[in-house]
Amino acid sequence: MSGPVGFGVIGCGSYGRVHAELISSLGPDLRLVAVADAETARAADVAARLGCAASRDLEELYGRQDVDAVTVCVPHGLHADVVVAALEAGKHVLVEKPLEIDLESAERIVEAERRSGRVVGVMSQRRFEPAARAAADRVAAGELGRLTGGLAHTVAWRDQEYYDATAWRGSLEVEGGGALMTLGVHALDLLLWLLGDPVEAQAQAGCLAHERIEVEDTIVGSIRFASGAIAGITATTAAYPGLPPRVAVFGDRGTVVIPVDPDERAAVRAQYHDFVAAMANGRKPLVDTDAGLRVLATVLALYESARTGKAVPVAWT
Ligand SMILES: NC(=O)c1ccc[n+]([C@@H]2O[C@H](COP(=O)([O-])OP(=O)(O)OC[C@H]3O[C@@H](n4cnc5c(N)ncnc54)[C@H](O)[C@@H]3O)[C@@H](O)[C@H]2O)c1
Repeated sequence: MSGPVGFGVIGCGSYGRVHAELISSLGPDLRLVAVADAETARAADVAARLGCAASRDLEELYGRQDVDAVTVCVPHGLHADVVVAALEAGKHVLVEKPLEIDLESAERIVEAERRSGRVVGVMSQRRFEPAARAAADRVAAGELGRLTGGLAHTVAWRDQEYYDATAWRGSLEVEGGGALMTLGVHALDLLLWLLGDPVEAQAQAGCLAHERIEVEDTIVGSIRFASGAIAGITATTAAYPGLPPRVAVFGDRGTVVIPVDPDERAAVRAQYHDFVAAMANGRKPLVDTDAGLRVLATVLALYESARTGKAVPVAWT
């Protein structure tokens, strides 16, 4: 590959627009070439604002030789279909979190990744915040001693309008889950990054402050890790006015706390630079499909436990 990496953005909704703007500002190694959305007027609007092409449909976008990689920013349960088609068209893919909403669909992505030899990254920008990187370095250096536990708290408020605004939010079939699947996954990914492989999950969940949705707005659970460490997790969109997200990891010689960084866009930019470096060097990105699968398997085990009232093994391949 010579010259800047050409990017396409698929999905020009609320966060797709953020991606498109950020890619446009990342030069000189990246270039926003084209955008696409099932609602063509949205793509046209973003393209006119940012000076790139609006593809009529995904086939047209995949057919462009100047698009090396695509960012997939469509609703959760559509990720696999879009990612697999992009990989089959030879594109590298940065897909929004969560990887998918069930393990079968997530594994379709992993198989297509293997067949294509292309790079697939999963958005999890909090890993690129300076405090998160510093925490990971301290854990890796053994400064915390034997790891004993942690916490991942996402305590937020979303009003009814948030769920009413789109058909897919609040739907089991497309969002696949609520506060944890959509918001809590950021903190959960940090927790698993620092504590390693989860083995068992337990949780209680409910829909406490919203109507007409099929997903949880509150879940509280615990996760046991292969190391023996035990962590607590809370994800809620039913806590007005919300608290800053909090992730911490403990050991028998120290504790790290990762406060949320106010400059979210800097972290997203850093994840793009890591992804492009992975493409150039033929290596895995920092947040790869294994990480996405592990987070998804943990979310699904927590949901299963909330449904059955039993501890559930966390399993993925
Ligand atoms: N990393 C983050 O911090 C962050 C923040 C917000 C959203 N997200 C993720 O971004 C993704 C999208 O969320 P959103 O809030 O932007 O949703 P949204 O509903 O605002 O936008 C989704 C867009 O996808 C389009 N779309 C749907 N199906 C399509 C298809 N088959 N082909 C092309 N376009 C299609 C819709 O028309 C819509 O414009 C989700 O995975 C979400 O979890 C991530």
